[in-house]
Amino acid sequence: MLIDKAAQILRAGGLVALPTETVYGLGADASNELAVRRIFSVKQRPASHPLIVHLAAAEQLDAWARDVSPLARKWAAAFWPGPLTLVLKRTELATDTVTGGYDTVALRVPRHPLALELLRAFKGGIAAPSANRFGRVSPTTASHVHSELGEEVELILDGGPCEVGVESTIVDVSNDMPLLLRPGGITVAQLEQTGGVTVATAEEQEGAHAPGRLASHYAPRAGLKLAGRGQLFAEAEALAKTGAKVAVLTADASVEVPGCTRIAIPSEAAALAKVLYAALRRIDDGGFDVAVIEPPDEHGLGLAVRDRLMKAAAPRA
Ligand code: TXA
Ligand code: MG
Repeated sequence: MLIDKAAQILRAGGLVALPTETVYGLGADASNELAVRRIFSVKQRPASHPLIVHLAAAEQLDAWARDVSPLARKWAAAFWPGPLTLVLKRTELATDTVTGGYDTVALRVPRHPLALELLRAFKGGIAAPSANRFGRVSPTTASHVHSELGEEVELILDGGPCEVGVESTIVDVSNDMPLLLRPGGITVAQLEQTGGVTVATAEEQEGAHAPGRLASHYAPRAGLKLAGRGQLFAEAEALAKTGAKVAVLTADASVEVPGCTRIAIPSEAAALAKVLYAALRRIDDGGFDVAVIEPPDEHGLGLAVRDRLMKAAAPRA
């Protein structure tokens, strides 16, 4: 069986790309130093960017984390399996390689059936970042993983297109005050309702430690420009006049922009999240110089979509 083969590869220190409900992950045995180091080298990712350890069930939480607060347990119970990552004080099971030397570890139980099957067969924790090269667009299909990492992975499990489409929400619950480190598949409103607390974002919190929060990330090779409210078509037209090959990402089929190609996207935030990364890849595949999009408002999954769009549009290093 494919799952048994995948578990064997992990036990032998190999890499398996696996589907999750958010994006595809590049998985290795979280307890195997050499295997985890290979993730960093395949991704070309700096060692200072720690990895998320994926678990089969919330019952494994205490093996990896200590001083788990009632709030963290409440969120784990409510949202696992699902697109929520909890940052907690680590136990000795979590090595420096996985955690980037921090005294915390990021944990989540994904809800894709294949990921859960693999986690149950493997039994240990699977360290898995998104299965893309560092700074690039995350994969949401097996063929994205194949074109990005192809030969460098022992096995790619194909679980179809990802259901959520953007990464998990990351909340630091290692201190008294919960901090949102990355908006994602679970909304702030869901967290606040279930937890009975307000969740501050890392930006609001002066001096908050948050590794891996580079400005430029999730970036297509083509340029991406965020249009102001109501400015989409004017921006696109202005760019086309400079001679650039322009893609306009919009749900609005009614307007023809001279010199531009329309790429259809849904207007509703959750639906947009689901196809966002595939749309960013289409910009590159279509040979466009630049794409223009009007970001959704911050409501619900809109916050995560806006975050990814802002990073994809940020100046490159
Ligand atoms: O949806 C997801 O979370 C996907 C799927 C595969 O599970 N994974 C994912 O992993 O997005 P990655 O490596 O692309 O992003 C993980 C983020 C990084 O920004 C990293 O810096 C942060 O989690 N992180 C990991 N450990 C942390 C820690 N101890 N403290 C703070 N941030 C941490
Ligand atoms: Mg990533």
